Amino acid sequence: MNVTELYDLINREAQDDASLIAVLESIQAQYRYLPFEALVLASERLGVPLAQAYSVATFYHAFSLKPKGEHCLHVCMGTACHVRGSPQVLDRLQTKLGVKPGGTTRDRLFTLETVNCLGACALGPIVVTDGDYSGQMTAQKVDTLLKHMVRAEAERK
Ligand code: FES
Repeated sequence: MNVTELYDLINREAQDDASLIAVLESIQAQYRYLPFEALVLASERLGVPLAQAYSVATFYHAFSLKPKGEHCLHVCMGTACHVRGSPQVLDRLQTKLGVKPGGTTRDRLFTLETVNCLGACALGPIVVTDGDYSGQMTAQKVDTLLKHMVRAEAERK
């Protein structure tokens, strides 16, 4: 992490102590997590206690103190998705990626997470990949989804 780059990023968003969330959002978007050094710099720049920055960073689901993968896969484990097979979908993703929910693959390509009800129960089971909803998922569809994502990633590089 480049401290100068980080400081520039914080300065772009920093208006006053009320801009803490905007600053943390920018850092999260840039690094896909909130490094401890970033919390320290943001709290110093905004004049807010480090404990307050930490409290905000741990309160909101959108922030993470651990590095995330380039792609986030969220499996809905709400009741409707659960009865329609989301445990099997989650099992397949865990097996394929080699991580448990909350984990990130070693190559930092994927982070696997679970959520409770996305408000689209009729489409369940649902997997959300980088904000895109895939409904009526099955273990077999997971294989196809991952293949497409890995292929797209290879073409991007
Ligand atoms: S339970 Fe999965 S969207 Fe509602």
